[in-house]
Amino acid sequence: MKKCRIGIIGAGRIGKLHAENIAYRMPQFQLMGMADPYLDETWAKRIGFPMITKNIDDLINHTEIDAILIASPSHLHVEQIMKVSTAGKAIFCEKPMGLAIAEVENALAMVNKNKTLLQIGFNRRFDPNFANIKKRVLQGAIGKPQIINITSRDPVCPTEEYCKTSGGMFMDMTIHDFDMARFLAGAEVTEVYAKGAVLINPDIAKYGDIDTAVIQLTFANGALGMIDNSRQAVYGYDQRAEVFGSLGSLMAHNQTEHAVVQLSKTGTYHSNPLYFFLERYEAAYLAEMQAFYHAWLNHEESPVSGFDGLQALKLAFAAKQSLDTALPVKLTEGHHDE
Ligand SMILES: NC(=O)c1ccc[n+]([C@@H]2O[C@H](COP(=O)([O-])OP(=O)(O)OC[C@H]3O[C@@H](n4cnc5c(N)ncnc54)[C@H](O)[C@@H]3O)[C@@H](O)[C@H]2O)c1
Repeated sequence: MKKCRIGIIGAGRIGKLHAENIAYRMPQFQLMGMADPYLDETWAKRIGFPMITKNIDDLINHTEIDAILIASPSHLHVEQIMKVSTAGKAIFCEKPMGLAIAEVENALAMVNKNKTLLQIGFNRRFDPNFANIKKRVLQGAIGKPQIINITSRDPVCPTEEYCKTSGGMFMDMTIHDFDMARFLAGAEVTEVYAKGAVLINPDIAKYGDIDTAVIQLTFANGALGMIDNSRQAVYGYDQRAEVFGSLGSLMAHNQTEHAVVQLSKTGTYHSNPLYFFLERYEAAYLAEMQAFYHAWLNHEESPVSGFDGLQALKLAFAAKQSLDTALPVKLTEGHHDE
């Protein structure tokens, strides 16, 4: 088997998860190194990276590396994508692709010019439940899609430190749902109407951010959509989706910690949703990396491209504009963040 020699930038929550998946569960990759200026060395030594560095350029310019996985804070993605593309390596970049539309467009132009394989970390497309809905929609199981419903609620608010560079809830969290909406509808969004509030964590308002949102979408194929977001669902990570159409409905419920149901005088109990993304999307994180490997090996197009990254970002900006103006925002080809 031809191995893809990969290095990782950023050893935070998601960088560590990818590193451990690659090190222990994905023999099609060879883990070559980790770069993080604030590296947790004890952890890195345990994983046994051949190269551990605080300077990301050491990794990017390493001549024996085929691909780089970018898992640094979101505001660094564009710059790092451009460096890696210039160095001629394939890129897996965590979402969001960047925090400014013009910058992402620049990076995309470079990636296209260099013919760089770029996959964005919209892992939910690879979740077995959501992938199954998509497959059935394409098979025509529910006829013509009419309503896309997405519920996406985190169990806890992110740290204040994380919020400072995350780009805000639409760019950090809802971006997954914007991508999922496009994916499930099989069409672009033409209008976004967002409402948002700070109902959980008043500190988040310091960064101009919100922690609760309801977003209405209109798709180019005429379907309508609804996303509801919360940064704090006390019962766990609430991740559900429905595509309702002319011939029926497809729904993915939450995955729970176990499947035992307890019946008693006081009620019927079953377990809560899996706690958070690391648990809920375990299979999806492996599957997205498998898809990346496959595209790299076969010189195929990315299954989740930079264009997908850009489209989701445009929706995040449109949602922010809608929130700020209390008006629906139409998406046009030239939608910009100014
Ligand atoms: N796909 C998903 O489900 C998912 C889940 C969580 C986070 N993310 C994304 O992954 C990225 C990282 O999120 P996280 O939760 O792991 O954050 P985190 O704060 O836990 O980790 C970020 C890491 O990047 C490192 N870092 C800081 N400056 C750096 C630099 N200049 N170069 C390289 N590394 C640097 C930090 O030391 C830290 O280890 C974000 O873009 C986030 O949106 C995606």
